[in-house]
Amino acid sequence: MTKTFYIKTMGCQMNEYDSDFLAQSMIHHGLFPVDEPEDADLVLINTCIVRAKPEQKALSFLGRMSAFKKRKPGLILGLVGCLAQKDGASLLKRFPQLDLVMGPRELSSIQEVLGRIDSDRQRVVATRLEPGPPRPIHTLGYFEGRIKAHLSIMEGCNNFCSYCIVPHVRGREVSRSPDEILDEARALISEGVRDITLLGQNVNSYFREEGGRWTFSSLLREIGKLEGLWRLRFTTSHPKDLSDELIRRFGDISNLCPHLHLPFQAGSNRILKGMKRGYTRERYLELTAKLKEVRPDISITSDVMVGFPGESRADFELTLDLIRQVEFDSLFSFKYSDRKGTLAEKMPEKIDEPEKTARLNTLQHLQRQITFKKNRELEGKQVEVLVEGQSKKNKMLTGRTPSNKIVNFTSNNGKFGILVKVLIKDGLLNSLRGDALKNG
Ligand code: 5AD
Ligand code: SF4
Repeated sequence: MTKTFYIKTMGCQMNEYDSDFLAQSMIHHGLFPVDEPEDADLVLINTCIVRAKPEQKALSFLGRMSAFKKRKPGLILGLVGCLAQKDGASLLKRFPQLDLVMGPRELSSIQEVLGRIDSDRQRVVATRLEPGPPRPIHTLGYFEGRIKAHLSIMEGCNNFCSYCIVPHVRGREVSRSPDEILDEARALISEGVRDITLLGQNVNSYFREEGGRWTFSSLLREIGKLEGLWRLRFTTSHPKDLSDELIRRFGDISNLCPHLHLPFQAGSNRILKGMKRGYTRERYLELTAKLKEVRPDISITSDVMVGFPGESRADFELTLDLIRQVEFDSLFSFKYSDRKGTLAEKMPEKIDEPEKTARLNTLQHLQRQITFKKNRELEGKQVEVLVEGQSKKNKMLTGRTPSNKIVNFTSNNGKFGILVKVLIKDGLLNSLRGDALKNG
């Protein structure tokens, strides 16, 4: 019988959410989590394939665990998530030690599948793309002691940006029922969670007809009303679907945090067209200006890519120019990576690796200057911090501002899970440092 489990999570917040679901479901069925894969009877690897690098990482961890299983034949080894969905049954051939391959849309049946493996040692592949049944909520106790949690409101993507593999492995958009979402939010809050991030590949296109029309904006309003929820966030938004109504929500939902992750990907209209993004640089600049108007303290973060096929030096300069204009609080930046089966993979004029690296370095250098400048501007200011715990490096407490910046601070009150006013002394590159005021 399988008694202990370990889950290795790679990739995005949706994968973290899925892993939390898997862990809750295991615990509900009497299994115990362990800290090291070597101590587990069951190891699940939750994988990402958005670029070649995370895919290689997933395969190399799987290789390591397969080798380990030769020494521990009783181990049940499963690969779940996006790589499982993409490569399916071929993974069983390639990795004879693998017992289970399961795509993201199949995870609601994890217990039944594990039962089959446990009882007669079948190897299982589950990679249907149709929406699965709703996942049971087993939060009982799992989130106690955690202040932040993710909550999925919709899944899948209909956009088919030309570079992106995600719609191929996560399927079409499906919105969860508002009742289910609100129940899950209440369950999280009752366990002490105070900061919830709503998740979806494209949250702006949330839509459900259930006792009326539910849009993302109306859903946000309802969740924002829940007692005990101090901070509400969401990710990821697509610029083409960011409505004026939603922008206004930043001004009128008091616990909605002044932070928006709004991937722009490229600053040149020609490249945006090739990416099939459905907006122009002018439209993106207009949106960010409106956001700043409604909420002057808003922190805008983004994703950007360099070296998309056909990207000229001039196109790249337009990306840098957009970064200078918007002044993002922080940026996730990537080199374009060919993904098999996407439109971009078949495009001519691929940019070579050294050029992509040079562009990425230039871009990251620029962003570091902007991030540092913005953090320095907070010196001498008071911010509100939700205390998450003790900082790893020193004896300080650590938490985040509403705009999601990390703050390490001194305090004579060691309490976690409370809101504290902190006076910022130093704005560093990746965090802020300061002292708690009064009772903090
Ligand atoms: N190559 C490089 N980056 C990619 N992303 C998505 N697909 C690719 C790709 N093929 C980036 C985008 C996206 C983030 C999650 O990953 O910037 O917003
Ligand atoms: Fe990676 Fe995309 Fe899958 Fe998330 S949805 S794990 S980013 S491939």
